[in-house]
Amino acid sequence: MQKEDSNINLSNNSDLDFVPWFRNAAPYINAFRQQTFVIYFSGDVLNDNEFPSLVHDVTLLNSLGVKIVLVHGARTQIDKRLRQNKIKSQYAQGLRVTDTETIQVIKEASGAIRLDIEALFSTSLRYTPMAGSQINIISGNFVIAKPKGIIDGIDYLHTGDIRKIDTGSIQHSLNAGDVVLLSPVGYSPTGETFNLNGEDLATYSSIELNADKLIFIDDSKGILDEDNLLLNSLTIQQLKHIISRIENRPGIEKNDTIRHYQRIVRACESGVKRVHIIDRNIDGSLLIELFTQNGIGTLISRDHLEDIRSANIEDVNGIIELIKPLEESGLLVKRSRERLETEINNFYVIERENKIIGCGALYISENKIQAELACMAIDREYQSQGRGEKLFEYICKEAVKKELQQVFILTTQATHWFREQGFIKVTLDELPAEKQAFYNFQRNSAVYIKNL
Ligand SMILES: CC(C)(COP(=O)(O)OP(=O)(O)OC[C@H]1O[C@@H](n2cnc3c(N)ncnc32)[C@H](O)[C@@H]1OP(=O)(O)O)[C@@H](O)C(=O)NCCC(=O)NCCS
Repeated sequence: MQKEDSNINLSNNSDLDFVPWFRNAAPYINAFRQQTFVIYFSGDVLNDNEFPSLVHDVTLLNSLGVKIVLVHGARTQIDKRLRQNKIKSQYAQGLRVTDTETIQVIKEASGAIRLDIEALFSTSLRYTPMAGSQINIISGNFVIAKPKGIIDGIDYLHTGDIRKIDTGSIQHSLNAGDVVLLSPVGYSPTGETFNLNGEDLATYSSIELNADKLIFIDDSKGILDEDNLLLNSLTIQQLKHIISRIENRPGIEKNDTIRHYQRIVRACESGVKRVHIIDRNIDGSLLIELFTQNGIGTLISRDHLEDIRSANIEDVNGIIELIKPLEESGLLVKRSRERLETEINNFYVIERENKIIGCGALYISENKIQAELACMAIDREYQSQGRGEKLFEYICKEAVKKELQQVFILTTQATHWFREQGFIKVTLDELPAEKQAFYNFQRNSAVYIKNL
């Protein structure tokens, strides 16, 4: 391709920055392929100037092989139309009582939103991120609803609950590469239409579809701690803790928040692997959340995001990515891919969100009582947060299980770190004979030993 056509100007530093950024995104791209994401966005998002950008980003995810179900909210549009028609809504327990006039307005608002979204997905103009995309967006009678009924004497009329979702048809469309669009309305087998809560619909769908991710894009930045600082990630246990803290607060405005957090807990407990809350007011927030290490919103998962475990052959690429810069700077001894593949059973890794962020290896000596600890590395972004120590402790426990008595290390620049882990400096002759024979005098590493 001609340079002019590709718009690449390598004299521009931001073009060069793109290369490591793209490489860092690779593990996520590989992990997300064929995964199912249910993405909810509030009605406000549709009024944003950035909404076309969000559509571009969803299109990009679809092109990367992610199966996408979009669920839109419509509260803002419904309220506006009700105001225009001078219809007053009645609320009970925070829920709209949907009478015949109101359901008519809801149908109109949802229909208009659907058409607008479909139109945006149909753009494929040259020189825009949609160029070359050919995405079918499918909507239909996927949601079966039932009336909420009469609660505490109040008849909620056309306000409904979700009864069933036609997962078979949705999966069929997703497998064909289509994006599925769900509106917060459902139909009963008697032919009536019911007003549904969009967030509930997204949650229900993510559970029924066994989705990998449920993503809420709305006005909140994410979940905040007691000091109002954004929490990057938390487990459902931590979220339950936050819910009980909020429950003890005075006032009723907390109820919506509690209801929302309870939905998230339900989704995670029912098998949805990750729930994300993302701020709609930041252009590109969806991509930042999905393709960067720390994201931009809050990620909630059932279990801890990080896992320390023995490595397997699928980790080789991740380990190479992690240690390559350290090898280039001389901190670690160079290892070829072949050597890593052969020795992968000696390795332990810290995996975070499909990415290897730490590694270390244990090489058992011929005397079976000593082992070399080697290739200890923690991703720069995650250093100085205790991970090195945790990984080291994990490897030591594994060494004890293998009935080893001592671990030793040859290091040039991390002597103090190992001293802090209880290592003491020794001379070369305390090493196993085979290690002494291959000692690299040019590298002149210090030798440290720790009794287990
Ligand atoms: C050494 C390494 C594995 C430690 O991982 P980590 O997750 O940052 O370690 P921890 O969080 O458990 O400990 C951090 C502490 O160790 C200190 N530390 C980190 N590297 C150090 C080093 N080379 N020398 C002395 N101290 C070091 C940090 O300053 C920090 O101290 P602080 O808590 O007082 O701020 C990591 O820094 C690394 O990958 N370094 C590059 C590769 C390397 O040198 N490997 C060892 C050769 S085998």
